[in-house]
Amino acid sequence: MDAFRIIGGKKLSGSIAVRGAKNAALPILATCLLTDSPCRYRNVPLLRDIQTQVKILNTLGVETQWSGRSITTRLLDTYNSIAPYELVKTMRAGVVALGPLLAKRGECRVSLPGGCVIGERPIDLHLRGLEALGAEINVEHGDIYAKAPKGGLRGAEIYLGGTFGSSVTATANVMMAATLATGTTVIECAACEPEVVDLANCLNAMGARISGAGSPTMTIKGVRKLRGADWTVIPDRIEAATFLVLGAMTRSPITVTGARYEHMMAFCHVLRQMGVQIERKGRSMTVVPSSKRYRGTDFVTLPFPAFPTDCQAQTMALACIAEGTSVITERIYPERFMHAAELKRMGASIQVSGGQAIVQGTAHLEGTEVMASDLRASAALVNAACAAKGESLIRRIYHVDRGYERIEERLSKLGASIERVDAEG
Ligand code: EPU
Repeated sequence: MDAFRIIGGKKLSGSIAVRGAKNAALPILATCLLTDSPCRYRNVPLLRDIQTQVKILNTLGVETQWSGRSITTRLLDTYNSIAPYELVKTMRAGVVALGPLLAKRGECRVSLPGGCVIGERPIDLHLRGLEALGAEINVEHGDIYAKAPKGGLRGAEIYLGGTFGSSVTATANVMMAATLATGTTVIECAACEPEVVDLANCLNAMGARISGAGSPTMTIKGVRKLRGADWTVIPDRIEAATFLVLGAMTRSPITVTGARYEHMMAFCHVLRQMGVQIERKGRSMTVVPSSKRYRGTDFVTLPFPAFPTDCQAQTMALACIAEGTSVITERIYPERFMHAAELKRMGASIQVSGGQAIVQGTAHLEGTEVMASDLRASAALVNAACAAKGESLIRRIYHVDRGYERIEERLSKLGASIERVDAEG
């Protein structure tokens, strides 16, 4: 199994370009199921999760062709409307096929994604939202069977909030389904994440009538059909944040290009609170290295525009080498602290209890053997290993490949000592 061998402590420099946002591209690719016309999606990152989504589309009768980072799609047939467990279990976002299939084909079967290491991750809100549009939904033997009423889905007023607030992919699913429903849908407590806004903009470019995207109240006036998409995916704010933390942790002047600051304000605010200086110039952000210790800080993960859960692990790694105490509260996935145990193996002092981690900063981390548990945890470990003293071996890096395109090649260009090796275990 692939692992990364990293020799830490190297000074890095140079620029790194941000790729398209994985979490925007995944639902956006599913928009091809809403139209009979060919679509073209640009700035799609070359990632394992995207390949899985493409395989799901292929299973559903969509022919796809890559050209660089663009994908063109063509609907071949609609015989199969089943998204199988083999694919959905490896990537939960496969469930965003549900809304479009239901709206366009009237009937479908999508496997239940199941739990994952960052928490239980139910999909009750997706189902509640689609039922409100008139769908009949049955969950049997691990599959979701969904059927639209005669005459198709009907617009409705839907409260889509859950215990934890809004849901990104539930909003995406219901919004996509509502584009082809009869009448008007209002989604209250819609997710406001930039990825949801990008999806709404793509759908509007296809002829949908969505307003209010980016706010908690979204209105969707149903249309009879959508035309093909030609859409460029927004840059990945989480990838950009990961590289800024890398610059901070290695005290290196790394410039991240192509990111949108307006998508990253809460994250940048926390970094600044910790004493990290970030210089902005157009669409570039540069970490200004400082020899001073960073300061510990407290932060809470919440839906956008607050601090994102997908940056929690990376920022915890930074807190591990800051002076003083940081209290990190995880409100989206209270169990998303698997990386804490691995950072502790590198010398960090962290106590996790009840959705909260208390980090006592130490002067430096030490390289050792660690294991990636999920996508963002693995990014945190890569950053930590680049900053640590000595050599680290990070196992199970298939998690990294789900969300970061050829990270070892890109970090090597900045001067990092990182290589992909074949390691047992
Ligand atoms: N939730 C429910 N019921 C639902 C849906 C969600 O209770 O039906 C809960 C979840 O358990 C969680 C909260 O609501 O506590 C928010 O989950 P959300 O549905 O927003 O998460 P998601 O849409 O499944 C996306 C990203 C995640 C990211 C979260 C939160 C994609 C493909 N995934 O997941 O990204 O952490 O939003 O921002 O967009 C990652 O990229 O590493 C990643 C995990």
